[in-house]
Amino acid sequence: MYDRALKGVERAGLAEMRRSLLADARGRTLELGAGTGLNLVHYPSAVSELVLAEPDPHMAKRLRARVEDAPPPVPVEVIAAPAEDLPFDDGCFDTVVSTLVLCTVADPATAVAEARRVLAPGGVLLFLEHVRSLRPGLARMQDLMEGPWGWVAGGCHPNRATEQAIAGGGFWVERLERDRIPGGLPLIRPAITGLARRPGSG
Ligand SMILES: C[S@@+](CC[C@H](N)C(=O)[O-])C[C@H]1O[C@@H](n2cnc3c(N)ncnc32)[C@H](O)[C@@H]1O
Repeated sequence: MYDRALKGVERAGLAEMRRSLLADARGRTLELGAGTGLNLVHYPSAVSELVLAEPDPHMAKRLRARVEDAPPPVPVEVIAAPAEDLPFDDGCFDTVVSTLVLCTVADPATAVAEARRVLAPGGVLLFLEHVRSLRPGLARMQDLMEGPWGWVAGGCHPNRATEQAIAGGGFWVERLERDRIPGGLPLIRPAITGLARRPGSG
C-alpha cells in the first residue's frame, strides 16, 4: 500500500530528491526507518555497507523482498531496531539516512541523539523530511489535523519542526534547503532536505 500511495509522488519528483540527497552517502551507512526500501536504488558507489533499520514487520517484509529481488552491490543487513534505540556501538557509521521518518518516530529528540551517537566524528546525517509549515495558516491546519492524519498515516505527525530537533541534537547543519514534497497533500508538503555533520574531524 505504501509503495502504491507514493507512486505518483515519487514520479513527480520525490525520487529525484532522494537521489540528490543520497549522492552524499559514503562508507558504512545506516538508514533509519527504511520502509519498503525506496531509497535502495539511489545509493552511490561510495557506500561500502548498508544497514537498513525498520521496526515495522510489514514494512520490513517488503524491504527484505526488495533487497532479495535487486540486491545492492554491497553487503546489506536488515534489522528491526527503532531509531530511538539503535543496537550499535558509538561512532561506527559514516552516514546515517533519515527520509520521511522523523515525522513518525515516537521521540524525535532521542532518535536524533542516537543518530549522532552512532556516527563517527565528522560523519553525516542526510535528511529529507516533511515538516511544520512556516506559514501560520498551514501550521495551524497541521496542528488541527495531527490526530486524524496520524490515524490514517501510520502515526505520522505533520506538524513537527524537525529542523529544530536536528540542530538541537548537537549537529552542525551544513546544508538545509526548504523544499516541497512534490504532488503531496498540502498538509505534508513543506519539507526540508540537507546534511548535518557530527562535530569532529572528517
Ligand atoms: C513514511 S515511512 C518512510 C519510509 C522510508 N524511509 C521512505 O523514505 O520511504 C515512515 C517509516 O518510519 C518507520 N518508523 C516508525 N516508527 C519508527 C521508529 N521509532 N524508528 C524507526 N522507524 C520508525 C515506519 O515503520 C515507516 O517505515
